Amino acid sequence: MHEQDAVVHFSLIGLPGSGKSTIGRQLARQWHLPFIDSDHVIEQRLGCTIKQYFAEHGEAAFRDVEQQVLAELLAATAPCVLSTGGGSVLRAANRQALQAHSTVFYLQSTPEDIARRLRNDTTRPLMQGDDPLQRLQELLAVREPLYLATAHYVVDAARQNASQVSRKIGMQAELAGLLTGQGSPGAAGD
Ligand code: S3P
Repeated sequence: MHEQDAVVHFSLIGLPGSGKSTIGRQLARQWHLPFIDSDHVIEQRLGCTIKQYFAEHGEAAFRDVEQQVLAELLAATAPCVLSTGGGSVLRAANRQALQAHSTVFYLQSTPEDIARRLRNDTTRPLMQGDDPLQRLQELLAVREPLYLATAHYVVDAARQNASQVSRKIGMQAELAGLLTGQGSPGAAGD
């Protein structure tokens, strides 16, 4: 599944608003691993918000930075739980790097469920149109095959809260024997 000798991180992929950051943070705590949100690292590097960068430089420039940051994070020598931006799977190089250096969980949700969650969100540049539901449907039509092609595990995240999804991932990871040396979910008592 992975290149030999590669450090195996745990990555979360999925549409914006599917819960990647919240769930990633919970898993990292349970597994005693560092949590990294790639969007956060990108914003630190840019010195501005992703929304501002999109507005000034456009999406293609953002995707270049995203690719660079993801490659660096996935090459890191200490394992971590990584939450990625919803569009990270658009580039083949990112899909390849995610698969080769991490165990990838796709948080599969529905546009309806996500539109409900994001109804008050003003931070996501791709969600700021008049019809966020339609936008999410369009994004999913393009991305669903890419999420499925990149993921090692598909997790049903629709109509469930973050703790329920984290528990499911924890069980899957344990069943698959992915947690050797990582501690086991709940080992910290949380
Ligand atoms: C994007 C999703 C965002 C962020 C950027 C682009 C996308 O991350 O990377 O705004 O293309 O779907 P989240 O998935 O965390 O919202």
